[in-house]
Amino acid sequence: MVKKNIICKYLILIIALALIVSMIVVFFGTKKEINYSNFHNVGIIEDGKNYNIKIEYPKFNSKKINEKIEKLVNNELKSFKEKCNKLKKTTDFNYELNIQYEITSTDRLYSIHFITYKYLEGAHYERTDSIYYYDYIDNDLINWDNLFKNKKEALEELSILSTAGLKQKYKEYIYSDKTMFEEGVSPIKKNYKYIMFSDNHIEIFFPPYQVAPWSSGDLSLKIGYGDINDILIDKYKGIEEPEKKEPITSYKRKTRDINELKNKKLIALTFDDGPSWKTTRRLLDGLRERDVRVTFFVLGNRVKQMPEIVKKAYDDGHTIGSHTYSHKSFNNLKDEEIKKEVSRTNEEIEKAIGKKTNILRPPYGEYKKSMIKLTGMTFILWSVDPQDWKYKNVEKVYNHIIDNAKDGSIILLHDLYDTSVDAALMAIDKLLEEGYVFVSIEELEKLGKLNLSSGKYYYKIK
Ligand code: NI
Repeated sequence: MVKKNIICKYLILIIALALIVSMIVVFFGTKKEINYSNFHNVGIIEDGKNYNIKIEYPKFNSKKINEKIEKLVNNELKSFKEKCNKLKKTTDFNYELNIQYEITSTDRLYSIHFITYKYLEGAHYERTDSIYYYDYIDNDLINWDNLFKNKKEALEELSILSTAGLKQKYKEYIYSDKTMFEEGVSPIKKNYKYIMFSDNHIEIFFPPYQVAPWSSGDLSLKIGYGDINDILIDKYKGIEEPEKKEPITSYKRKTRDINELKNKKLIALTFDDGPSWKTTRRLLDGLRERDVRVTFFVLGNRVKQMPEIVKKAYDDGHTIGSHTYSHKSFNNLKDEEIKKEVSRTNEEIEKAIGKKTNILRPPYGEYKKSMIKLTGMTFILWSVDPQDWKYKNVEKVYNHIIDNAKDGSIILLHDLYDTSVDAALMAIDKLLEEGYVFVSIEELEKLGKLNLSSGKYYYKIK
């Protein structure tokens, strides 16, 4: 009996160990969508007399690709500012330049898709798309034509695959304008310029007005390598295997007892424009060490690329809110476009953390009250703004926080800059000493300080 018991115990132990090991393998062995080791993110924010600028681009360890990207950014900046100087301001709204990118990688190729939006005059944003392919093994920029064995055959194949795939994926949109669709999928290079290469598939982007009206936004189609390896040159062929589903990892979210927060001096730190691969993770480590909760207002296009960081923030007990999909000023958008910016972001957040968000920070803090109802979200603004994006100076940002923070403050920062992370952590240490408690928006709601179901807006905590 005794022996049997021991064997039983060992068996259970071995099974438990095997389970733990396999969970670890599943969790850490999941292949990342993007290889971050060769680049970091550069952010530019600028508020001029009559304009707002928001630019993001990747900076690589390669002069060749950096020069190309910086040329694009600098040209856009220069021509935009020249135009702003010439234009007299005719509306209440600021002119706007917004450059964002999406990036994917394989074991040798980065695909970098830039979208530039300009709002100068007229009803619509002016949009320009550009794409770069960077082979980081050969340290070379690759022309679209050189990805394929035979350009003509490739286009014919892409056209066949896209026609079928789009019809299946977007039934209702596609038939709203049949002529537009047929022209938009015809086998010409212009229609298939924006192809993103990932480990398990390619994704073709169809900008607005190519296959469907503007209001349907960007449409895209994923195609497995099994269907396209034949047209690719050998170097860029991918693995022909079915897409694996992300493993669902169960994790108990860190929450704290709300009673401990009652009758305390409260501060809500908020971080916009992330997530960012390096700085957000560093910030999360610092927050965890200090057992502090904050709120992240994330951009949908960045959540899509780094859902794992958003999930990590959420699991650590922080609140995730929306900062819209692409950071365009609401004042320059039509109702339908605003709704799309919000719904796309909410979808990405829900995909990343498994929970919906109902709070939003409008880009640049610009909005009209009617937009609160339109989006169905509660708007969270701020009462303390150290302008960290402008100064990028630890001491200056730190001093501004210390000098202005008081019970009930909502503080605006950006988790894009190392200087902001350092200043935030220093300020947290100082203010903790002074007896403040740092709380997330969710905790404030639990404390009855904010009502998030009412579609209101808040600049500070009541
Ligand atoms: Ni912002």
